[in-house]
Amino acid sequence: MNEFDNPIVNTLFDPQNTLETKTDRRFFLKSSAALLAVMSPGLGMAQSTKSIWGGAKPFNFESVSLAQASDGIAIPKGYRWAIVAAWGDPINGKFPVISYDVINTPEQQAKQFGMHHDGCAFFPEQGSSTKGLWVVNHEYTDDGLLHPDGMKTWNADKVRKSQAAHGVTVAHIQRESSGAWQVVSGPNTRRITAYTPCAISGPAAGSIYMQTVADPKGKLALGTLNNCANGVTPWGTYLTCEENINGYFVKKGKASKEEQRIGINAKGFGYRWEEFDERFNADLTPNEPNRFGWVVEIDPRDPDQAPIKRTALGRFKHEGAQVTLAKDGRVVVYMGDDQRGEYVYRYVSKFPYKPNQPEHNRTLLDEGTLFVAQFSDSGEGRWIPLVHGQNGLSKENGFPDQAYVLIEARLAADYLKATPLDRPEWVAVHPKTNDVYLALTNNNQRGKEFPVNAANPRINNLMGHIVRWKPRGQDAASDRFDWEIFVLAGDPDNTDPNQKGNIQGDVYGSPDGLWFDQRGILWTQTDISSGALGKGAYSRITNNMMFAADPVSREFRRFLIGPNGCEVTGVDLTPDYKTMFVNIQHPGESPSERSNPDKPKAFSDWPDRKLFSRPRSATIAIWREDGKPVGS
Ligand code: FEO
Ligand code: CA
Ligand code: CA
Ligand code: CA
Repeated sequence: MNEFDNPIVNTLFDPQNTLETKTDRRFFLKSSAALLAVMSPGLGMAQSTKSIWGGAKPFNFESVSLAQASDGIAIPKGYRWAIVAAWGDPINGKFPVISYDVINTPEQQAKQFGMHHDGCAFFPEQGSSTKGLWVVNHEYTDDGLLHPDGMKTWNADKVRKSQAAHGVTVAHIQRESSGAWQVVSGPNTRRITAYTPCAISGPAAGSIYMQTVADPKGKLALGTLNNCANGVTPWGTYLTCEENINGYFVKKGKASKEEQRIGINAKGFGYRWEEFDERFNADLTPNEPNRFGWVVEIDPRDPDQAPIKRTALGRFKHEGAQVTLAKDGRVVVYMGDDQRGEYVYRYVSKFPYKPNQPEHNRTLLDEGTLFVAQFSDSGEGRWIPLVHGQNGLSKENGFPDQAYVLIEARLAADYLKATPLDRPEWVAVHPKTNDVYLALTNNNQRGKEFPVNAANPRINNLMGHIVRWKPRGQDAASDRFDWEIFVLAGDPDNTDPNQKGNIQGDVYGSPDGLWFDQRGILWTQTDISSGALGKGAYSRITNNMMFAADPVSREFRRFLIGPNGCEVTGVDLTPDYKTMFVNIQHPGESPSERSNPDKPKAFSDWPDRKLFSRPRSATIAIWREDGKPVGS
């Protein structure tokens, strides 16, 4: 999602001291030659190490040109697409149907796909590429579209419906002979909403910061919120990530240091839930916000199991959770905290993953260590543990215990002098080399609140960039890595040095979704805010898009352009690569980000055109007319 009017909250950041820690000053070598090398892809270190970033060019299709942008889906020649499921479609394939005048009740919405599809994953039924579970996040709601009169009147039912349109859907889908996919009924169908009971587990569960009057044990939260991107574990569960949770809470009294650091204030984002649901009134229920901002594990094949909030992975504005394994089998999860000047984190489990031992694997995200990254100007990087009692995270310094360190991960990371980044979004891990790629979508405060450094080299970084690193010894559990800038996004023809990109191939900006398929194609999706599209540095870019990128040649090739005002986010492939699933979020988003219910189609009428009165977020399936694998 865009940040509405999310102010910067990393005010404890100390520009004088960011590139040093109390524990190891020698780590940061200030070498100008090294600085130039990491900032300049194709030069110096980047060129000499080219061959170690992957294999042969992984993709082959005809690029989609910028001129093909329209209020529709543009994909390469020889490809087809169709809707799989849009906001309001019934999750069991039949009832309740979305009402053409949007009069569905909260109870009906809870049996339909939610709004604003984001991260997602296909869980094949016994390895099938034609049948499986579709799991999709519903990040937030545009209440201007959700209710017939938008937010002109307000009541408890509207709050309940908005809450029901949030969360996650698990639905059975299957492919038809045409290549299109249908939602069908099945045993695992379910909706998880902003009021579904969720277990709280790990070191912060039950702590004093988690206890509320409604839940004195601090172990059962109601609902999951602002589910942005995702992850998939080797043991077959889905991770959904709670991002801009602050915006749902309102605190009229003076916000504490902790509330300020996550961005809780008197305004919120205008969801108005606090008017009818006390949980979101942070004056009355000050611990409730601590129960959101987590990575939540869902077993899509067990509809009776409650989602589990895994506190060992820390609390912040979680973008996604990319899972990989260390050399010794321990589970490693990479996680961005998407806000200007925030950090990238890594979790390493204490014990290794053991195939076919589901009971054991269920504990892996409860016992382990959370780390935050520091990027030195010389191209080295390291992970610093967020462990109470280490590196000054002590009671005397304001960190009473490990539960506090995890709940206030941002404050702990500030203390440890982590590197503030240009909005860390998705992380992707190369399937063969274990190299890690991180999308830094943009930061218009770089050079103001946050000084430039080698990892964030552009003032007023409107176009964003992608950083990548090699864990030392190719081991994801190593505490050291070597990084470089993979690409500076932006039009290479732009004359402004801070907006000019060095993209090889097709132009884009604001990379957000980032995902490797098993063939080594780096799929990249953009999230340019609707207020920026087609203007200024984005004058040639009118719609959000998706690319295939080659880690070796660094070529980006445009694969898809989405409808007007949408964001393209979330992607997966069937095991045979013959169907790709992509989410189109908020088509027709207005620059104010809440639609006018009287003119809901002012910016887009995708996908229903005249059939339905409002644009709808949707999952689409893409396949090739010749039936061959997508992208290759
Ligand atoms: Fe929900 Fe950072 O995008
Ligand atoms: Ca979005
Ligand atoms: Ca995103
Ligand atoms: Ca984004």
